[in-house]
Amino acid sequence: MNIFLIGFMGTGKSTISAALGRRLSREVVEMDELIVKREGMPISEIFEKKGEPYFRELETGLLVELQQKNDVIVSCGGGTPMRECNVEEMKKSGVIVLLTAEPETILERVKHSHDRPLLENHKTAAYIAELLDKRRDKYEAAADLTIATDGKNTAAICSELIENV
Ligand code: S3P
Repeated sequence: MNIFLIGFMGTGKSTISAALGRRLSREVVEMDELIVKREGMPISEIFEKKGEPYFRELETGLLVELQQKNDVIVSCGGGTPMRECNVEEMKKSGVIVLLTAEPETILERVKHSHDRPLLENHKTAAYIAELLDKRRDKYEAAADLTIATDGKNTAAICSELIENV
């Protein structure tokens, strides 16, 4: 069974996936990182030069490809579960775990990042809260398990996930 970690930017998907991979001795697939490697440019440049729809197609293609694996931990992009077909694809081979965090926590975690085109020039808790509100229903509908990450360390989040998945 694959484990797909979903959630808004800055909810800890990459950190938790890496830690889980070590703890469970499982391969970790970092979707954004793989896309960046294959395209040979950062996410911000993919958005700028090829457009967001192109990036979204790459995400969907990658998820279809991942169906061939069956014991990996996948760190999704923050927008991956916004497409219904992506959620269906994930459900075919695994369990979906949603990581959540308050807008203020997210802001703290992303404020020094320059490879999040959707937040560039919008790094405020109010903007994050607005985008989060638009996405919340889809995140929640996709999730088999939800873990709030505010105030918890990586080890505690991993334990909660392992115990409940
Ligand atoms: C996005 C989140 C990013 C990345 C892209 C779009 C989104 O991933 O896929 O910038 O739509 O929320 P992270 O959640 O890993 O930052």
